[in-house]
Amino acid sequence: MPGQHRAVAPESLRRRSGMLKAEATHDFDEGIVRDTVVINRDSYPEDWAYSDAEAYYTQSLKNRDNVHIVLRDNGKSVGYLFAITHNAAMIELKADDQLMKPDARAYYIENVAILPAFRRRKGFSEMLQVLREELRKRGISKISLHARVSNRLSEVVQENMKIIEIRRISAWRYYNYQEPTDYIEAEWCP
Ligand SMILES: CC(C)(COP(=O)(O)OP(=O)(O)OC[C@H]1O[C@@H](n2cnc3c(N)ncnc32)[C@H](O)[C@@H]1OP(=O)(O)O)[C@@H](O)C(=O)NCCC(=O)NCCS
Repeated sequence: MPGQHRAVAPESLRRRSGMLKAEATHDFDEGIVRDTVVINRDSYPEDWAYSDAEAYYTQSLKNRDNVHIVLRDNGKSVGYLFAITHNAAMIELKADDQLMKPDARAYYIENVAILPAFRRRKGFSEMLQVLREELRKRGISKISLHARVSNRLSEVVQENMKIIEIRRISAWRYYNYQEPTDYIEAEWCP
Protein backbone atom coordinates (compact mmCIF):
# COMPACT_ATOMS: atom_id res chain seq x y z
CA MET A 1 0.00 0.00 0.00
CA PRO A 2 1.29 3.51 -0.73
CA GLY A 3 3.19 5.06 2.14
CA GLN A 4 3.58 1.74 3.94
CA HIS A 5 6.87 -0.07 4.45
CA ARG A 6 6.94 -3.57 2.96
CA ALA A 7 7.26 -6.17 5.65
CA VAL A 8 10.64 -7.95 5.57
CA ALA A 9 10.24 -11.68 4.97
CA PRO A 10 11.54 -13.88 7.75
CA GLU A 11 14.93 -15.49 7.07
CA SER A 12 13.44 -18.98 6.57
CA LEU A 13 11.07 -17.65 3.88
CA ARG A 14 13.82 -15.67 2.13
CA ARG A 15 15.96 -18.80 1.92
CA ARG A 16 13.11 -20.92 0.55
CA SER A 17 12.34 -18.50 -2.23
CA GLY A 18 16.01 -17.85 -3.12
CA MET A 19 17.72 -19.03 -6.27
CA LEU A 20 18.76 -22.62 -6.57
CA LYS A 21 22.13 -23.00 -8.25
CA ALA A 22 22.71 -25.46 -11.09
CA GLU A 23 26.19 -26.59 -12.07
CA ALA A 24 27.63 -29.23 -14.39
CA THR A 25 29.84 -31.79 -12.65
CA HIS A 26 33.11 -32.63 -14.36
CA ASP A 27 34.91 -34.93 -11.94
CA PHE A 28 33.61 -38.28 -10.79
CA ASP A 29 32.85 -38.45 -7.10
CA GLU A 30 31.06 -41.18 -5.11
CA GLY A 31 29.23 -38.51 -3.07
CA ILE A 32 27.54 -37.29 -6.25
CA VAL A 33 26.43 -40.85 -7.03
CA ARG A 34 24.96 -41.22 -3.53
CA ASP A 35 23.11 -37.88 -3.77
CA THR A 36 21.81 -38.78 -7.21
CA VAL A 37 20.46 -42.13 -6.04
CA VAL A 38 18.72 -40.54 -3.03
CA ILE A 39 17.15 -37.74 -5.09
CA ASN A 40 15.99 -40.28 -7.64
CA ARG A 41 14.48 -42.52 -4.94
CA ASP A 42 12.69 -39.63 -3.22
CA SER A 43 11.33 -38.13 -6.45
CA TYR A 44 9.28 -41.02 -7.80
CA PRO A 45 6.66 -43.45 -6.51
CA GLU A 46 8.29 -46.27 -4.54
CA ASP A 47 7.30 -49.00 -6.98
CA TRP A 48 9.06 -47.21 -9.88
CA ALA A 49 12.49 -47.53 -8.29
CA TYR A 50 15.13 -49.43 -10.19
CA SER A 51 17.30 -51.75 -8.16
CA ASP A 52 20.62 -51.05 -9.90
CA ALA A 53 20.55 -47.23 -9.69
CA GLU A 54 23.86 -47.01 -7.81
CA ALA A 55 25.71 -49.23 -10.29
CA TYR A 56 24.09 -47.43 -13.23
CA TYR A 57 25.11 -43.96 -12.04
CA THR A 58 28.57 -45.08 -10.92
CA GLN A 59 29.26 -46.29 -14.43
CA SER A 60 27.40 -43.51 -16.26
CA LEU A 61 28.93 -40.58 -14.36
CA LYS A 62 32.41 -41.79 -15.28
CA ASN A 63 31.57 -41.55 -18.97
CA ARG A 64 32.68 -38.14 -20.18
CA ASP A 65 30.21 -38.16 -23.08
CA ASN A 66 27.43 -37.83 -20.52
CA VAL A 67 26.30 -34.57 -18.94
CA HIS A 68 25.39 -34.46 -15.27
CA ILE A 69 24.05 -31.29 -13.71
CA VAL A 70 23.54 -30.87 -9.99
CA LEU A 71 21.07 -28.44 -8.44
CA ARG A 72 22.04 -27.06 -5.04
CA ASP A 73 20.40 -25.08 -2.28
CA ASN A 74 23.03 -23.54 0.00
CA GLY A 75 25.47 -26.27 -1.02
CA LYS A 76 23.05 -29.18 -0.47
CA SER A 77 22.24 -31.30 -3.54
CA VAL A 78 18.50 -31.11 -4.11
CA GLY A 79 18.13 -32.11 -7.75
CA TYR A 80 19.89 -33.29 -10.88
CA LEU A 81 19.59 -33.56 -14.63
CA PHE A 82 21.36 -36.35 -16.47
CA ALA A 83 21.78 -36.41 -20.24
CA ILE A 84 23.40 -38.93 -22.58
CA THR A 85 23.90 -38.93 -26.33
CA HIS A 86 20.69 -39.50 -28.25
CA ASN A 87 22.27 -42.48 -30.01
CA ALA A 88 23.27 -44.12 -26.70
CA ALA A 89 19.68 -43.63 -25.50
CA MET A 90 18.36 -45.25 -28.64
CA ILE A 91 20.37 -48.36 -27.87
CA GLU A 92 19.18 -48.41 -24.22
CA LEU A 93 15.56 -47.91 -25.23
CA LYS A 94 15.29 -49.92 -28.42
CA ALA A 95 12.87 -52.41 -26.88
CA ASP A 96 10.65 -49.68 -25.39
CA ASP A 97 10.45 -47.10 -28.17
CA GLN A 98 11.13 -48.46 -31.61
CA LEU A 99 10.32 -45.19 -33.37
CA MET A 100 13.42 -43.30 -32.22
CA LYS A 101 15.73 -42.58 -35.12
CA PRO A 102 19.51 -42.14 -34.86
CA ASP A 103 20.79 -38.58 -34.54
CA ALA A 104 24.44 -37.92 -33.78
CA ARG A 105 23.68 -34.21 -33.19
CA ALA A 106 21.29 -34.57 -30.26
CA TYR A 107 21.42 -35.32 -26.52
CA TYR A 108 18.74 -37.21 -24.62
CA ILE A 109 17.60 -36.10 -21.16
CA GLU A 110 17.66 -39.42 -19.40
CA ASN A 111 16.38 -38.10 -16.09
CA VAL A 112 15.56 -34.91 -14.28
CA ALA A 113 14.44 -34.87 -10.66
CA ILE A 114 14.16 -32.38 -7.83
CA LEU A 115 13.36 -33.25 -4.22
CA PRO A 116 9.69 -32.42 -3.54
CA ALA A 117 10.49 -29.70 -0.97
CA PHE A 118 12.57 -27.78 -3.55
CA ARG A 119 10.20 -27.81 -6.52
CA ARG A 120 8.47 -24.82 -8.12
CA ARG A 121 11.54 -22.63 -7.64
CA LYS A 122 12.71 -22.68 -11.26
CA GLY A 123 15.18 -25.50 -10.60
CA PHE A 124 14.28 -27.29 -13.82
CA SER A 125 14.63 -24.10 -15.84
CA GLU A 126 18.02 -23.43 -14.19
CA MET A 127 19.32 -26.91 -15.04
CA LEU A 128 18.03 -26.63 -18.60
CA GLN A 129 20.02 -23.40 -19.04
CA VAL A 130 23.20 -25.11 -17.81
CA LEU A 131 22.51 -28.04 -20.13
CA ARG A 132 22.13 -25.62 -23.03
CA GLU A 133 25.54 -24.11 -22.25
CA GLU A 134 27.24 -27.52 -21.81
CA LEU A 135 25.82 -28.74 -25.13
CA ARG A 136 26.69 -25.50 -26.88
CA LYS A 137 30.35 -26.22 -26.04
CA ARG A 138 29.89 -29.55 -27.84
CA GLY A 139 28.20 -27.96 -30.85
CA ILE A 140 24.79 -29.44 -29.94
CA SER A 141 21.51 -27.53 -29.88
CA LYS A 142 18.98 -30.35 -30.07
CA ILE A 143 17.60 -32.50 -27.26
CA SER A 144 15.28 -35.46 -27.00
CA LEU A 145 13.46 -36.87 -23.99
CA HIS A 146 10.49 -38.88 -22.81
CA ALA A 147 8.61 -36.29 -20.80
CA ARG A 148 6.09 -37.06 -18.11
CA VAL A 149 2.60 -35.80 -18.89
CA SER A 150 1.04 -36.12 -15.41
CA ASN A 151 3.23 -33.44 -13.80
CA ARG A 152 3.11 -31.01 -16.75
CA LEU A 153 6.77 -31.56 -17.69
CA SER A 154 5.82 -32.26 -21.31
CA GLU A 155 3.73 -29.08 -21.44
CA VAL A 156 6.53 -26.99 -19.90
CA VAL A 157 9.02 -28.24 -22.51
CA GLN A 158 6.50 -27.51 -25.29
CA GLU A 159 5.95 -23.99 -23.96
CA ASN A 160 9.66 -23.19 -23.67
CA MET A 161 11.35 -24.91 -26.61
CA LYS A 162 10.94 -25.24 -30.37
CA ILE A 163 9.36 -28.65 -30.94
CA ILE A 164 10.64 -30.74 -33.86
CA GLU A 165 8.77 -33.95 -33.11
CA ILE A 166 6.30 -35.03 -30.46
CA ARG A 167 4.31 -38.21 -30.03
CA ARG A 168 2.59 -39.84 -27.08
CA ILE A 169 3.24 -43.33 -25.71
CA SER A 170 0.19 -44.31 -23.68
CA ALA A 171 1.91 -46.42 -21.00
CA TRP A 172 5.66 -46.06 -20.43
CA ARG A 173 7.70 -48.88 -18.97
CA TYR A 174 9.81 -46.54 -16.80
CA TYR A 175 6.65 -45.25 -15.09
CA ASN A 176 5.71 -48.85 -14.35
CA TYR A 177 3.18 -48.65 -17.24
CA GLN A 178 1.00 -46.44 -15.01
CA GLU A 179 1.31 -43.17 -16.98
CA PRO A 180 1.79 -41.90 -20.51
CA THR A 181 4.93 -40.19 -21.74
CA ASP A 182 5.53 -37.74 -24.58
CA TYR A 183 8.56 -38.43 -26.74
CA ILE A 184 9.90 -35.02 -27.70
CA GLU A 185 12.66 -33.77 -29.97
CA ALA A 186 13.27 -30.05 -29.53
CA GLU A 187 15.69 -27.18 -30.05
CA TRP A 188 16.30 -24.10 -27.96
CA CYS A 189 14.73 -20.98 -29.32
CA PRO A 190 17.50 -18.60 -30.51
C1 LIG B 1 9.88 -32.34 -13.26
C2 LIG B 1 10.49 -31.54 -12.11
C3 LIG B 1 12.00 -31.73 -12.15
C4 LIG B 1 10.13 -30.05 -12.31
O1 LIG B 1 10.65 -29.35 -11.21
P1 LIG B 1 10.17 -27.87 -10.80
O2 LIG B 1 10.85 -27.55 -9.54
O3 LIG B 1 8.70 -27.77 -10.84
O4 LIG B 1 10.78 -27.01 -11.97
P2 LIG B 1 10.58 -25.47 -12.21
O5 LIG B 1 10.28 -24.75 -10.93
O6 LIG B 1 11.75 -25.00 -13.02
O7 LIG B 1 9.26 -25.43 -13.06
C5 LIG B 1 9.28 -25.48 -14.46
C6 LIG B 1 7.97 -24.90 -14.96
O8 LIG B 1 6.92 -25.80 -14.69
C7 LIG B 1 5.86 -25.16 -13.97
N1 LIG B 1 5.30 -26.20 -13.12
C8 LIG B 1 5.99 -27.21 -12.57
N2 LIG B 1 5.14 -28.02 -11.90
C9 LIG B 1 3.91 -27.50 -12.07
C10 LIG B 1 2.61 -27.89 -11.63
N3 LIG B 1 2.43 -28.99 -10.89
N4 LIG B 1 1.56 -27.14 -11.99
C11 LIG B 1 1.74 -26.04 -12.71
N5 LIG B 1 2.95 -25.61 -13.17
C12 LIG B 1 4.01 -26.35 -12.86
C13 LIG B 1 6.55 -24.05 -13.25
O9 LIG B 1 5.71 -23.02 -12.91
C14 LIG B 1 7.57 -23.61 -14.29
O10 LIG B 1 6.98 -22.83 -15.29
P3 LIG B 1 7.47 -21.34 -15.50
O11 LIG B 1 8.96 -21.41 -15.75
O12 LIG B 1 6.68 -20.89 -16.68
O13 LIG B 1 7.12 -20.65 -14.21
C15 LIG B 1 9.92 -32.01 -10.75
O14 LIG B 1 8.52 -31.87 -10.76
C16 LIG B 1 10.26 -33.45 -10.37
O15 LIG B 1 11.36 -33.74 -9.91
N6 LIG B 1 9.31 -34.39 -10.55
C17 LIG B 1 9.50 -35.79 -10.20
C18 LIG B 1 10.44 -36.47 -11.15
C19 LIG B 1 9.93 -36.43 -12.56
O16 LIG B 1 8.76 -36.64 -12.82
N7 LIG B 1 10.84 -36.18 -13.51
C20 LIG B 1 10.52 -36.10 -14.90
C21 LIG B 1 10.63 -37.43 -15.55
S1 LIG B 1 10.24 -37.34 -17.29
